[in-house]
Amino acid sequence: MKKLFTVFVTLALVLGLAACGSGKEEEDLSGSVPPEASVQAAEEKSTEGENTEGTQPSSDVQEENGLETDEEPSLGDPEGGEVKALVVYFSATGNTKAVAQTLAGLQEADIYEIVPQEPYSEEDLNYSDSTTRATAEQNDPDARPAIQGGITNFEQYEIVYVGYPIWWGDMPRILYTFFDTYDFSGKTIAPFCTSGGSGLSGTPGTIAELESGATVLEGLAVSGSGADSAQSSVEKWLGDIGQD
Ligand SMILES: Cc1cc2nc3c(=O)[nH]c(=O)nc-3n(C[C@H](O)[C@H](O)[C@H](O)COP(=O)(O)O)c2cc1C
Repeated sequence: MKKLFTVFVTLALVLGLAACGSGKEEEDLSGSVPPEASVQAAEEKSTEGENTEGTQPSSDVQEENGLETDEEPSLGDPEGGEVKALVVYFSATGNTKAVAQTLAGLQEADIYEIVPQEPYSEEDLNYSDSTTRATAEQNDPDARPAIQGGITNFEQYEIVYVGYPIWWGDMPRILYTFFDTYDFSGKTIAPFCTSGGSGLSGTPGTIAELESGATVLEGLAVSGSGADSAQSSVEKWLGDIGQD
């Protein structure tokens, strides 16, 4: 009986150990990771391509404001260094945006759209009525329409191309908000505009007054109707201002 009991206990131990061994194997094959490791991986993933405010690499032209994080190399620079050129634009009906995208592509620049906190409706832009919003703002030198989001790492840019439509012979007031917001000391500004025919209307001079610490280059004027096919004008201008 004692012998039978010893055999039974030995058998039970052997079977028990075999069961433990197969459990461990299953655990290893399941590929599970320690909890800390998965948290870290999740955090890394969540910061990847996080673009919530500010500039956007040129290869991914934005529809809305986006942010380039500190860690990520800019896609505009294959070497992974800092991009030195930024294209900033405001566009209410898409003409200036088209020129800005052409320019950012040619210069491998980052791109940032000035997006109004309160978007302009079609009625706001109706310049045949002097009481509508855009015209009322242009008639008020102190109007400073608010901008959504902002540019991070603005200091990294050496040259900033700034594009806008001409409104009543001037930059839209939201450009004044923009120039009030950032310090351009030591930077180069290259202005470009689209218009119904007025051209730059002296706006580079206005920008030079607003940003006395910056170098303001000769501007480019494109007609609104030619904005989609402006590449050759943009290339010529870049050559003229020594940025080709
Ligand atoms: C309120 C307002 C005022 C404008 N004033 C002028 C003007 O003074 N001279 C001109 O040539 N075009 C004028 N335009 C036409 C725009 O400059 C032109 O359509 C421009 O290409 C629009 O650019 P966007 O599509 O990027 O907004 C005006 C347009 C608006 C909405």
